[in-house]
Amino acid sequence: MQLRVLETSESVARLVALDLWESIEAGARRLGFATGRTMIDVYREFVELAEALPKNWNWSGIQTYNLDEYVGLGPQNSRSFHYFMQQHLFLPLALDNAHTHVPNGLAPDLERECQEYEEIATESPIDVQLLGLGINGHIGFNEPGTPFSSTTHIVKLSGATLQQNAPDFDGSEPPGKALTMGIQTILNARRIMLVATGIAKAQALEALLYGPVGTECPASALRLHPQVSVYVDRALMDGVLERQQSKEVPTHEIRV
Ligand code: GLP
Repeated sequence: MQLRVLETSESVARLVALDLWESIEAGARRLGFATGRTMIDVYREFVELAEALPKNWNWSGIQTYNLDEYVGLGPQNSRSFHYFMQQHLFLPLALDNAHTHVPNGLAPDLERECQEYEEIATESPIDVQLLGLGINGHIGFNEPGTPFSSTTHIVKLSGATLQQNAPDFDGSEPPGKALTMGIQTILNARRIMLVATGIAKAQALEALLYGPVGTECPASALRLHPQVSVYVDRALMDGVLERQQSKEVPTHEIRV
C-alpha cells in the first residue's frame, strides 16, 4: 500500500486527478468512480485536465462504473449519486450515457439489479477504482460487518453513515437503504485509489492503516490488495499520528 500525504485537500485532489489521468494515458479504460464531498474537488481537477486535451480526444473507449446508489432515488433526483456524477463528471466530459454505469436505485427487482450490476462491473477487471472513506471505515456503502467476500448487494445504512450524509439532504431524511458494490467487487479492480481528507476521518484512517484486517473496518480489506494508493491531507495524517501517540512523520510511501 502506498500512502501519499499532501499538505492540503486541494493538492490531494490535484494529485489524484493527475494520477487518474496518467492511468488513462497508460491504457486504463474501465474506471470505477465514487461519490461524496471529497470527490467534488477531484472531479473538478479532472475536468480541468480534460479541458486542456486536444478537441479530438475521444472518450468513447471509456466505460465508468459507480460504487453505489440510494434505494428509491433515480438520476433525476438531485440527491441521487447518479445526479451527482452527471453534474460533476458525466456532463462536463460529455460521456455517452450508454458508457456510464450506476446501480439503479429505482429498479423494481433490487436483488436482480444487484446481480446484473455485479456482472457488468466484473465482466473484466476495473482498471482503476476510486474510493472515498466513510467515518466508520466504510468503502462504497459496505458498512462494518460486511464480509470481504461480498458482491453487489442491498445494504441497510448505519446510523453513522446516515448522519455523515445528512448534510446532502438539507434536513430531509436520507434513504435508509442503498445498493453497493461489495468488498470483493472492489478488490477485483486492478488498481485502487482511496482519497480521504479532514480530521473527522482520523479514526477510520488509523484503522485502515494500522488496525487489524477485519470486517470491523471494511477499508482494512484494501491491505489484501497489491495495488492500492491512499491519498490524504496533512491535517488528517496528523490526526492519525496523534491517535497513535507518535509524532513521527511518515515517509511518502509506507508499507503496512
Ligand atoms: C458516501 C459514499 C462513499 C463515500 C463516502 C465519503 O457514504 N457511499 O462511497 O466514500 O460517502 O463521503 P465524503 O467524501 O462526503 O466524506
